[in-house]
Amino acid sequence: MTTYILDQKDRPMRDLRISVIDRCNFRCSYCMPAEVFGDDYAFMPEDKLLSFDEIVRLVEIFARFGVEKIRLTGGEPLMRKNLHDLIARIKEVDGITDIALTTNAVFLVRQAANLKASGLDRVNISLDAIEDEVFQRTNGRGIKTKPVLKGIEAARDAGLEIKVNMVVKRGMNESQIVPMARYFKKTGDTLRFIEFMDVGNHNGWNMYEVVSKKEIIELIDAEMPLVPLAPNYFGEVADRFRYSDSNAEIGVISSVTEAFCSSCTRVRLSADGKLFTCLFATHGYDLKEMLSENQSNADITAYLYEIWTGRKDQYSVDRAKYNKKRRDKIEMSYIGG
Ligand code: GTP
Ligand code: 5AD
Ligand code: SF4
Ligand code: SF4
Repeated sequence: MTTYILDQKDRPMRDLRISVIDRCNFRCSYCMPAEVFGDDYAFMPEDKLLSFDEIVRLVEIFARFGVEKIRLTGGEPLMRKNLHDLIARIKEVDGITDIALTTNAVFLVRQAANLKASGLDRVNISLDAIEDEVFQRTNGRGIKTKPVLKGIEAARDAGLEIKVNMVVKRGMNESQIVPMARYFKKTGDTLRFIEFMDVGNHNGWNMYEVVSKKEIIELIDAEMPLVPLAPNYFGEVADRFRYSDSNAEIGVISSVTEAFCSSCTRVRLSADGKLFTCLFATHGYDLKEMLSENQSNADITAYLYEIWTGRKDQYSVDRAKYNKKRRDKIEMSYIGG
């Protein structure tokens, strides 16, 4: 039986985002800058990661509170061994209707068909530029666009639903907004622009580097006129637009200039089993510890109830207030996007 619960701002719990690994083959400057995440960076040892058994058990508990959508993230989730086995098991959980993956797509060439066959519904693929010289800089590893574009093709061939996510940062890739829009207008894949956010403690965020939703829309609309669309579902993070002369659409995720906390139904689980009720949280709740202490499902359920019903988070709404103070936030690669 499902028990729907609301937090302190009347938001239900719908969407569980699970980071399955904190490692990544890229070093995007806004997420895992190479100077910080170097060769000697201490990533989580394998025995600290939640096991598949533990993840499935938690998904079952969350589903009883009304969670329907599972997103697997990282780091790069396809670096976690046998991810397709986990997907197949989540697919079996009562109440879960949508399984999605956030990935840089490089490993999709080998894995897309298997992931789809295991029950994956969709992939959101990160790609910050269509020109090699720019992309090689943004991913911090000199990787060209070709392996990502091949990954997108593999996802399409496998029948996965695709969205492409582009983080826009001034001085990094704003030159790519219109070229990316042109490229994906042709392929018909939905392209979503994400305002650069102040996640973690290492990306040197400042407001000047944020290219706003307004600027992005104006740039594209001047060449390819846009028509606004209604949201697909309650709490969708992207504002949607369609080109006036085609069915292709774009989205803009404007968490800085137009916060969407009032409809935030997301809860996040780090790869080592800590629960976070906001992307900008400073601390998590250790569920792995509860699992390893052999606490019952009823105990974990009661703990979750207490956490969610007490939740007040709305960091993006209050950003200006927080930016005046130093705050030790969790890293995006630790908690997932
Ligand atoms: P769909 O289910 O495909 O609509 O996507 P999604 O809402 O799960 O979005 P996705 O994982 O592709 O998120 C894209 C980006 O939006 C993330 O990488 C973040 O940058 C941003 N984002 C997603 N959720 C949140 C959130 O709760 N708060 C903030 N501030 N940003 C978010
Ligand atoms: N601002 C906005 N989006 C970010 N992502 C990572 N770091 C940031 C940031 N600082 C997004 C990536 C990817 C997902 C994993 O998180 O674009 O889509
Ligand atoms: Fe890796 Fe994605 Fe972070 Fe880039 S944004 S470093 S691809 S996890
Ligand atoms: Fe949700 Fe926190 Fe993002 Fe607001 S800032 S939308 S509360 S995760």
